[in-house]
Amino acid sequence: MSFFSSFFKKEISVLGVDIGSSALKIVQVKKKHGKAVLETYGELALGPYAGIEVGRAVSLPAEKMIEAIKDLLRESKTTTVECGTALPLSASLITFVNIPPVPEKQIADVVAIEARKYIPVPLNEVLLDFSIIPKEEQYVTEDETTKTEKQGHEVLVVAIHNDYINDYQSIMAGSGLNPSFYEIELFSSVRAVVEQGVATNMVIDMGARSTKLYIIERGVLRSSHIINKGSQDITLALSKALSITVSEAENMKRTYGLKGGPEYKELTEIITVNLDYMFYEANAALLTYQKKYSKNVTQVILTGGGVLLKGFTELAKICFQTDVIYADPFGKLETPAFLAEEFSQAGPEFAVAIGAALRRLSELE
Ligand SMILES: Nc1ncnc2c1ncn2[C@@H]1O[C@H](COP(=O)(O)OP(=O)(O)OP(=O)(O)O)[C@@H](O)[C@H]1O
Ligand SMILES: [Mg+2]
Repeated sequence: MSFFSSFFKKEISVLGVDIGSSALKIVQVKKKHGKAVLETYGELALGPYAGIEVGRAVSLPAEKMIEAIKDLLRESKTTTVECGTALPLSASLITFVNIPPVPEKQIADVVAIEARKYIPVPLNEVLLDFSIIPKEEQYVTEDETTKTEKQGHEVLVVAIHNDYINDYQSIMAGSGLNPSFYEIELFSSVRAVVEQGVATNMVIDMGARSTKLYIIERGVLRSSHIINKGSQDITLALSKALSITVSEAENMKRTYGLKGGPEYKELTEIITVNLDYMFYEANAALLTYQKKYSKNVTQVILTGGGVLLKGFTELAKICFQTDVIYADPFGKLETPAFLAEEFSQAGPEFAVAIGAALRRLSELE
């Protein structure tokens, strides 16, 4: 690279923002020599902004959320306001529709007509996005092309209510941030943790309030579920069963997890019972998918703060009859080597924020 080209090529930094139900996550990256370089990152528990414990889910009023975001930006020493923001899966309605074969320029209209059957509010109240599921055949012959044209398309439709977007827009503006997009968190996570390829994977995101399951085939979403139980339910169950405060329960959960040994038999048992429920539901979704499409899910990828629990991965390996990996979204970024251990530990928590940052970065190209 010549002196002048490197001189004029400004390195622009961007943020990925994940507003979780219990914690805010933020990641700042920039592009250098074609690589995404981590500049700073941070996390902030939201509970205390509503006067409740760390680790619990809250619904904060806008002004409190703005205060929390500003605090995190300051603590993390971010230096840009350009960002991409993830929205919770619960803010969206995701459906798959089949549309008849129509000329390309009519697809959007036909999708809107089909989507209307599944979306319980008037379409002018939602932001509608869609993408056509690519056909399986990689090398289609002319005959087959005609056949698929006759068959039409399967289309992924994502609807987000305008009210959600408006709420987020005012929170972002109040925080001084400038998002170029809002995307449902699942697409951010998938970008950060799923390798491109032909495999079928299941991503599990165990948050505080809920656990999200996504089945991804050849990089494309094929199915998504929400289990209305998250890591805070383990804390609340511990607090009740062991007659300790929620803070003490949260501390015990994080300190010992499933690795407390014989001294913490009861702790181990309560955590196991709660996780068993989640694994049962996840397995059911996985098996249903495998049966319906005659496809094997070859890998389960663990994300979300809940999977940081000590012993979680080992238990997951026993519960799923497939390969299980602890997500490593920081692996998509260039990071200082001396912090490698910290990044591999904290990785799953930052999947959404990193995925949003990666998309924002790709917009600069
Ligand atoms: N080291 C740890 N061991 C066990 N649990 C942990 C650990 N660290 C965080 N958690 C739990 O993870 C949860 C937070 O995870 P995360 O930040 O992914 O949730 P969130 O994004 O705020 O929630 P949601 O995705 O449901 O909106 C909390 O309930 C917390 O107790
Ligand atoms: Mg989350």
